[in-house]
Amino acid sequence: MKELLEKILEENRHWTKKGKVATYIPALAKADPKILGITVIDIDGKAVTVGDCDTKFTLQSISKPLALMLALMDKGTDEVFSKVGMEPTGDPFNSIIKLETLRTGKPLNPMINAGAIATTALIEGQSGGEKIERLLEFVRLLAGNKDIRVNEEVYRSEQETGDRNRAMAYFMKDLGVLEADVDQILEVYFRQCAIEVTCSDIAHMARCLANKGNIAGKQIIPHEIVRLTNTFMVTCGMYNASGEFAIKVGIPAKSGVSGGIMALVPGKMGIGIIGPALNKIGNSIAGVHMLEDLSRALDLSIF
Ligand code: DON
Repeated sequence: MKELLEKILEENRHWTKKGKVATYIPALAKADPKILGITVIDIDGKAVTVGDCDTKFTLQSISKPLALMLALMDKGTDEVFSKVGMEPTGDPFNSIIKLETLRTGKPLNPMINAGAIATTALIEGQSGGEKIERLLEFVRLLAGNKDIRVNEEVYRSEQETGDRNRAMAYFMKDLGVLEADVDQILEVYFRQCAIEVTCSDIAHMARCLANKGNIAGKQIIPHEIVRLTNTFMVTCGMYNASGEFAIKVGIPAKSGVSGGIMALVPGKMGIGIIGPALNKIGNSIAGVHMLEDLSRALDLSIF
């Protein structure tokens, strides 16, 4: 596996020059576009890591499936899906248009920003601080890393510039999709996006999803919630490139604008990737190409 990953990484390194790091959150603009790393952890827990795997990055949208699982465990499917839908959008991840044109104000799915804000609002907790602490504990448990923290600089940067997310949240509050305090919900959402991890952390989390929610014999997440989350990652996880990704790679995956991708092959492995240079959709450009090659080499597509 190590040789294969080294070969795939070197063959795709040139893509990093064709992508661009995210700049709409100013703190993310500091990332080095040349960074590239991949960790694969098989179902028995054996890890292989290649490239810049010690580099820390923020979860960004990779937090969306994690917040979804916690909200589902807290509130159950009926309540969660009364506030957020199950359909892919075909629109960019931060698009606002369907919130109004669909009239209900209910965001189409939990993998886009509006849907994630609605999902985060459902996490249990007396205060914003308690909600984010519960999510952090969940992330630490899944990653097997008790040192995972929020990157305060990235959090502040997003808090200062996240006006489109703010606009969507107020719109959803107006239509009754959000019921709690908007500022508190946004604080939790901005903090969850700023949770700082490595490739190895997200590969561990992905391995738990590949293992039906089980870590070392303990059922951490109910299997039904894992099944549902993996399905969202297939249909909506790579934004408005999810269809092409399903055709070319064929595995559940979730990307973030920091350049991370968390992917998994059910029953086989968890995969973590970092490559901050992004394609036009907002997915790691080299990361997507590496997953294409890995899927072809090991026949990983689940379809
Ligand atoms: O809310 C935002 O715009 C970011 N914190 C997260 C967006 C994101 O990662 C989309 N990913 N491709």
